[in-house]
Amino acid sequence: MANIREVAEKAGVSVTTVSHVVNQTRFVAPDTEIRVRQAMKDLNFRPNILARSLRRGETKTIGLILPDSANPFFAESARMLEEAAFRRSYSLILCNSDGDIQKERRYTDVLFNKQVDGIIFMAAGDDTQTLSDLIIRKFPVVIVDRILDQMEVDAVITDNHQSGYLATRHLIENGHTRIGIIRGPSNVTPSAQRVTGFQHALSEAGISIASELEVTGDFHSESGYQATKQLLKFPQLTAIFACNDLMAIGALRAIREAGLSVPEDISLIGHDDIEMASYTQPALTTIAQPIEQLAETAIQYLLERIEQPEISPRRTVLPNELIIRKSTRRIS
Ligand code: RIB
Repeated sequence: MANIREVAEKAGVSVTTVSHVVNQTRFVAPDTEIRVRQAMKDLNFRPNILARSLRRGETKTIGLILPDSANPFFAESARMLEEAAFRRSYSLILCNSDGDIQKERRYTDVLFNKQVDGIIFMAAGDDTQTLSDLIIRKFPVVIVDRILDQMEVDAVITDNHQSGYLATRHLIENGHTRIGIIRGPSNVTPSAQRVTGFQHALSEAGISIASELEVTGDFHSESGYQATKQLLKFPQLTAIFACNDLMAIGALRAIREAGLSVPEDISLIGHDDIEMASYTQPALTTIAQPIEQLAETAIQYLLERIEQPEISPRRTVLPNELIIRKSTRRIS
């Protein structure tokens, strides 16, 4: 394989010029850049980015670990995070932990050993060991969406208690008093906090909380479908709050299969406002999470941490927003 000197000789330029073309570190006349790139192609030259990174002590690459890349909330979050990093000349490596703590730990090691400059961490569960190991080493990390208690680390989350409260208030204000909730996994903070918001709204309205109206899903559509079949056994049920849109989509199918319709028989509200929520039939009333702001803030915090490792940890809590569409209605 050719080296940088052979490329410079073939293109008729200095080694420094080739380096500027490879690293985009200084303007090079377009015709010169074309000659250098042609020489690199002809000689099958591959710049040694690893060597440069080791010299500089940075790779301009960040890692992202998230629990489920097939879930549109995480997919849309990853796209926003990648875009925010790219605009700041950083590449992003996506790792899917699949909700598995061991896999999450393995990918954290892989990213650390690949010398990424920092990690955006969307936790698979409530394990804190992996993150503690990184923090002890003063490695730049920002946690997003899911808080891990007792962790002194930069965090960007949304107000999930507020969103559980907003969703439930909306149903109560429309006359519903027998409201079922489909929780997400109990070991992640967003779902647990949405449930406390749900309970807060019910108790504030003087509505008793029936335990059979609280069922647990796993944030996938199938679990929403199964949980709804359970809830539909409750005779006076008139509304369901699903703690994410995928479970609400599963609920839609179960309600239809029971010969009922949304919102005529059952009002339904989801959470996340994934793109699909606007295209279900009927379009889903839901709670929108400010994914773009979540991503921008997380990338900003991470790059500031990379530049200034000593700054105190920051925690930002962003508000969610109720989006009213066609899947909820007023009842007398
Ligand atoms: O849909 C996935 C859920 O898990 C979202 O509500 C998000 O907050 C994440 O925690």
